[in-house]
Amino acid sequence: MMKDQSIKIFPTVEKLARSFAELLQQNADKTDDNDFYSIALSGGSTPNKIFRYLSENFKDKINWAKIKIFFGDERCVPPENEDSKYRMANESLLKNISIPKENIFRIKGENDPTKEASRYEEVLKSNLPSLKGIPQFDLILLGLGEDGHTASIFPNQLNLFYSARLCEVAVHPQTKHKRITLTGKIINNSKHVLFLVTGKNKASVLSKIFDVNNSRSEYPASLVNPKNGKLTWFLDIEASKMFDGKSNNKLIER
Ligand code: 6PG
Repeated sequence: MMKDQSIKIFPTVEKLARSFAELLQQNADKTDDNDFYSIALSGGSTPNKIFRYLSENFKDKINWAKIKIFFGDERCVPPENEDSKYRMANESLLKNISIPKENIFRIKGENDPTKEASRYEEVLKSNLPSLKGIPQFDLILLGLGEDGHTASIFPNQLNLFYSARLCEVAVHPQTKHKRITLTGKIINNSKHVLFLVTGKNKASVLSKIFDVNNSRSEYPASLVNPKNGKLTWFLDIEASKMFDGKSNNKLIER
């Protein structure tokens, strides 16, 4: 069955970043007093560029105090380690904006992974509203790996997507390093899931994910389908090569 999703293609990563910044600005502005707009951040080079754009251009335009920041996944390393996703987000965004420390909920990569997955699950339950008994994010940002992975759910670990837990310990298929990841249960309960995908290296996997004649459910990213929310793809021209010649597809906005 076709998913309810929309695709926006931007001529440059900067224009994509601007559109994301405006989305955040509008959502923070319309959030009621005493309420928060909750986001799970993603790692990767695209979010890094977007975070820098926000720091440079929207630092004073967004009401950061209305935003609660969570993470979609984390490598099992301390926060000062160069592989830490918290470190990346902190360097490129968090330390540059005026957001109260208590609005930031990082995954503690330095902790025992199994205990940390359980601890973070409790953090999510106590700090997010719930829908059908499952915590609900306003927005989850996701990246897409060339192998079709998303968050830290890799193609050989689809069982993690279907887990009954909210957080699981994943193992990177090549490096064997452990990571903590959100599962499909909470990803697909989100009000909005936004994939950020740029660069020509992603065109091939995107063409497989969007091939309606050959639904590739072996890709974790293909399993993302927020039933009670919306699914949006922000792509740049390079990543969206597979849409060439199909510009009247109603899903696509350029
Ligand atoms: C990781 C990366 C990864 C990333 C995607 C997309 O933990 O291995 O963070 O999951 O999100 O590979 O990355 P880009 O934004 O660099 O394309």
